[in-house]
Amino acid sequence: MKKGFIALAAGALLVLSMTNISSASDKSEGYKLVKANGCLACHAVDQNKVGPSYKVIAQRNKKLYGDKAIEEIEKAIEKGSKGKFKDLGITAVMPPYNYLGKEKIETIAKWILQQNK
Ligand code: HEC
Repeated sequence: MKKGFIALAAGALLVLSMTNISSASDKSEGYKLVKANGCLACHAVDQNKVGPSYKVIAQRNKKLYGDKAIEEIEKAIEKGSKGKFKDLGITAVMPPYNYLGKEKIETIAKWILQQNK
């Protein structure tokens, strides 16, 4: 009887910890790419680090370029960028990532625009 209860409790704990892990992380392709390509060394989703947060990037590009925001973000990832976020005290340079290729850059750009919450 007691053994059965312990097994049940352990099982419940396992399920609990598994759901915790999955809800805490973003499983999207965009996030995977950003993580795998070292972007998070300089960027966070909602906090400025060496580079501006993805939230700020999404908001600013939407405000400045509207429907063309996605193209501007893709261009910045492909060619790099500098001097656009001086008002936030950001003086570092965004390096170019053209080697990622059009498809991955597009997936990342779409994901960045979704961080506008
Ligand atoms: C070495 C640090 C560093 C790394 C690594 C880095 N960035 Fe940046 N990023 C920056 C900085 C600094 C800026 C701000 C540039 C500016 O002021 O114009 C920036 C700006 C940007 C912008 C906004 C550009 C604009 O014109 O609005 C995007 C989009 C971006 N980064 C995406 C990425 C992605 C995607 C990756 C990974 C593939 C990445 N960054 C990796 C430092 C970095």
